[in-house]
Amino acid sequence: MSVSKPTHLAIRRAAAALLHDRLVAFPTETVYGLGARARSSRAVLRLYAAKGRPRFNPLIAHVADLAHARRLVRFDERAERLAHRFWPGPLTLVLPRLAGAAVSRLAGAGLSTLGVRIPDHPVALALLRRIGEPVVAPSANPSGRLSPTRAGDVARTLGGRVAWILDGGACRVGLESTIVDLSGPRARLLRPGGIAREAIEALIGPLAGAGNEIRAPGMLESHYAPRARLRLDAASAAAGEAYLGYGPLPALPDDVPALTLSAARDPQEAARNLFAFLQTLDRPHIRTIAVAPVPPDGIGLAIRDRLARAAAPR
Ligand code: TXA
Ligand code: MG
Repeated sequence: MSVSKPTHLAIRRAAAALLHDRLVAFPTETVYGLGARARSSRAVLRLYAAKGRPRFNPLIAHVADLAHARRLVRFDERAERLAHRFWPGPLTLVLPRLAGAAVSRLAGAGLSTLGVRIPDHPVALALLRRIGEPVVAPSANPSGRLSPTRAGDVARTLGGRVAWILDGGACRVGLESTIVDLSGPRARLLRPGGIAREAIEALIGPLAGAGNEIRAPGMLESHYAPRARLRLDAASAAAGEAYLGYGPLPALPDDVPALTLSAARDPQEAARNLFAFLQTLDRPHIRTIAVAPVPPDGIGLAIRDRLARAAAPR
């Protein structure tokens, strides 16, 4: 495995590795992705194995532009609007798969739909343009664990299983794309994420599915889990716990490690810090991380969703 700054040479080599069915971790604006050549069943099987991911959980196909996306899935009026407004960006559209799509059936978990997105990150786009075919990329973490927002997170947990890690620094959004299912007559929110639900509804009307009852296949109740337990909507923390605040930190016992997601209560900043700070507070002697309440507005809905899954029984 080699961790590299995303120079032209490194991107060329990473692209070559992908074309040889090897795995490459790369930055996107949301989280780091673990990429595999989408059309190659061999590469896709390696990807599922590297993550320890159940095979019934489909992967998102990443492409560099709309023309490419049109070769994979059938767009309708709603999809056109959303794609024009939010791509490149943290939105995944689930649409009917086209017969000729260059994506292995294994990557789509056998479904008649496909999740597609154009990431808004220069390194991701350079890599996708270079190889000129879709790359499937789940978050680059072992299945069920915290998603990586820094190259070091990937190196620590998956380093032995990837050919290249392109280090593009910390991810700007910090949590995954919003997933909207447009394969049926009612648009459904499958996963809250980087684009606010309100912004999507402003364009295509109300979405079915609220923060918690929603289910993408394989989107298990327990996910994004640090080793420590989580205690949600906590105003304070006791000895033996850590505290993850939102807004200014309250007075806490001396031995309680504490960080605030955003002193200014800025939800974007909180999203950017969420996974990294959970990682930092997840120390061996900490049994529980107590987490302050985060309001469900805008990207706050996605923060709450990730926290609820991190706190779910395992
Ligand atoms: O921001 C992101 O979306 C990141 C970056 C790397 O692009 N990727 C990501 O992938 O979060 P992953 O595999 O960790 O999460 C993808 C989610 C899964 O919950 C999966 O079930 C759902 O998308 N999904 C993928 N294809 C689907 C489909 N055809 N129908 C319904 N859900 C789908
Ligand atoms: Mg994931």
